[in-house]
Parts: sequence; structure tokens; C-alpha cells
Amino acid sequence: MIQKLKGTYDVYGDLSIKHNYVKKLFEEICSNYNYNYIETPLIERSELFHRGVGETTDIVTKETYDFVDRGNRNNTIRPEGTAGVARAVIENKLYNTLPLKLYYMGSMFRYERPQKGRYRELRQLGIELYGVDNPISDAEVISLGVNFLNELGLKNITVKINCLGGIETRKKYKEALINHFKNNIDEFCDDCKERLEKNPLRILDCKVDNKNKLMKSAPSILDFLTKEEKENFDKVKKYLDVLDIKYVIDNTLVRGLDYYTNLVFEFISDDVDDIGSIGGGGRYDNLLKSLGGPDIPSVGFAFGMDRVVSVLASLEIKLPINNDLDVYILNISEKEFNYSIELLQNLRMCGYRADMDLSNKNMKGKFKEVDRYNSKYIIIIGEDEVKTGILTIKDNITKEETKVNYDDLIDFLDTNV
Ligand code: HAM
Repeated sequence: MIQKLKGTYDVYGDLSIKHNYVKKLFEEICSNYNYNYIETPLIERSELFHRGVGETTDIVTKETYDFVDRGNRNNTIRPEGTAGVARAVIENKLYNTLPLKLYYMGSMFRYERPQKGRYRELRQLGIELYGVDNPISDAEVISLGVNFLNELGLKNITVKINCLGGIETRKKYKEALINHFKNNIDEFCDDCKERLEKNPLRILDCKVDNKNKLMKSAPSILDFLTKEEKENFDKVKKYLDVLDIKYVIDNTLVRGLDYYTNLVFEFISDDVDDIGSIGGGGRYDNLLKSLGGPDIPSVGFAFGMDRVVSVLASLEIKLPINNDLDVYILNISEKEFNYSIELLQNLRMCGYRADMDLSNKNMKGKFKEVDRYNSKYIIIIGEDEVKTGILTIKDNITKEETKVNYDDLIDFLDTNV
């Protein structure tokens, strides 16, 4: 028996219905915000992620699924969506008309240690906005995320925000962090020892050493921001206030990807605390240029759909999903198949969720199907119905029966469903 890979899972039954609902809602909200759908390949050249996400990030050094293809090229199955979308924007010159607002949905792959809320195949719902550097766009991007979560019924959301400044600011801040940690780095885990020179910001994000007292006393990036960076960050906060979005400033929020500049943020559920961020993003004004494209400011985020759905389940939030059938056609015997299948086609073309028993079960079996699909109406088709065209519609809840002419059936359903 071949089993699924560790860190992956099958989506079926109620879970697949939930996933579909969440994806559709995300599409709807993105469309309201004037975003268009983009789909990029699951595999890309490895170099894209090395240059884009960053050589020293955990994602690239430890977590990518890499393979050499038959043409001896190094490929990677995407660990995240931003780099691939940026590549597509550059390669297809989508930047010719700016601003450009794109959303995507799909699986990403990271070789992480599986645990609650952490998978090796993770599903993301993401947006990217290109061509606007005004902080109002940062606030708008965050507001899309918050509105989506609120629409799902997740009201207790905190948006953590921080500002990482530009390259110069970060250079100075990195030096300050190295000075702060270097004399006591022996107290830290092996990963942090390595991070000290390569990527000291990531020490602040370490889950192993987060109790070390040096973490609390570490210098804050916010004290290193230039006047302009500070003003920009203040503007983001102001616009979030205007939009009535609750946020907290977390000066230790550094994010696990190297492309960020200035604003970074994460969406956290206040109700479920052992699952990590349910989404995260930020501004990445240098990414397109570093990938050989034009200099275009960009901002975006991605939700971890698996985590969003898991929080919905933990909070027992019932989504307004109606998966019930409108009509189940119950034909008495195979003789009525022609009539029933034509009627069924008609109902479906008119937009009704309808089905019938195609395997010619006995009556008991057919009624079992009615229950299974929770059909609102049942139409029994026998010899008489075929002959007269007068149909009996039974309301499966009230058990009330109504006689309706075949030609009036759709009118009847239009007023009653
Ligand atoms: P990220 O923070 O790496 O950002 O991932 C975004 C979200 O994906 C996380 O907040 C989390 O909910 C979910 N996630 C990450 N890893 C896992 C995992 N192993 N299992 C389950 N869920 C996971 C990005 O990927 C950026 N590309 C976001 C972005 C878009 N920044 C700008 N634009």
C-alpha cells in the first residue's frame, strides 16, 4: 500500500467543500479590490529562489525541493509564490501597465518538520501589488487580508507590523545586532551561531532561543530608520487607523524571506495561539530589480490556507455553505430514463443543483440517496408522469406535495428555492 508523503494530506469530503468556499471567497474579495488572477508554474529554475527569496534564508538553505532535470538543469518546486509571480511580471513585461494587481492560489512546497499547522505541501492564497510606493497601498493590501478574514467569521485578528527600512538601514542594524549578540553567541543554538554573520536579523525570529534575555535587550530596528522611512511607517499606521484596522507594532518581526524592505506584517489569530501566523507579507521594492527587471515598488502577502481552515475548525465556525441538492429525480424504473435525463438536463441548465439515480437502484436505495444529498425537492417520475406531463413535486422537509405542469416547473422552482 503506497501512502501519502509526510507533511501532505488529501482534501476531500467536508474539507474540500470548505477549501472551495474559502478559495471562492478569496477570489471574490480580490475581484472587489480589482485584482486579477495569475497562475505561474509549480517549478522554476532554482536560481530564482536563491536570488529572490535569499541565499541565507531557511527556506532556501534547508527547505526547498530541488531536483536536476533530464537536461541537467537545477530546478526547484516553488516554496512560495512571490518570486515566481515577479519572474512572470518581468518575463511577460506585465509592468508595462502599472499599477498591476495580481492574486494567486496554489500549493507551495517546503521541506519543514511537519507539525500542527506546518506542512510540506502548503496551500497559499496571495496577492501582489506592483507599481505603487505610497504607503496607502500598504494599508490597502492589509485591509484586503483583514476583510477576507472577517468575512470568514474570523474577527479576533491582530495584524503585527514592523518596518525593516532599506538596505542602508538594515546594514547598520545588522552591525548593531552582531555587536549585541557576538560575545554571548555560545548560549545560542547552532542555527543562530550561523545566522550571526550571515543573517543576524533571523536570530530575533529563533523559536529555540526566544527566551534568552539578550533577545529582549536587542536593539530595535525602529531606532535605525531614516527620517523618510519613519514618516512612511507613520503614514501606514495612519491609513490603517482610517480603515479601522487593529494592529500592533512588533519590532522583532523580521519574516523569513530576504526580499522585504520597509513594511512587514503578519496576520495572527488571537483565538488560536499554537499555529503561527495565518498570513504574512510586506513591501519588497528591490526584488524585481534584483531579478533583472525594472525598478518597481511592490507589496503583497500570502495566507496559509491550511492554517486559515484549521483556525475555522478550531473555533467551530460554520461557513454559510449550502451543499444540498435542490431537486432529486426519482424515476420508478429504467423505462423513464429518457424522460428523466432530459428533465434533469433542463433543471441543470436553469441553474439548479439536481441529480438522479443512474444505477437504477430499488426505491429504498433511491430514498437513501435523497437523504444523503439532503435534497429540498423530490420529483417522482413514473409512467403516468411521462404520459401526462403533470409532475408531483414533494417538499422533502414539509412533505407537502404539489402538482405542476412540466412547462411550469422552472417557474415553480424559481419562486420556491
Ligand atoms: P510566508 O510567511 O513564508 O510568506 O508564508 C505565508 C503564510 O503561509 C504563512 O503566514 C503561513 O500561514 C503559511 N505557511 C508558511 N509555511 C507553512 C507551512 N510549512 N505549512 C503551512 N502553512 C505555512 C510568503 O510565502 C511570502 N511569499 C508572502 C508574500 C507575498 N510576501 C509578499 N508577497
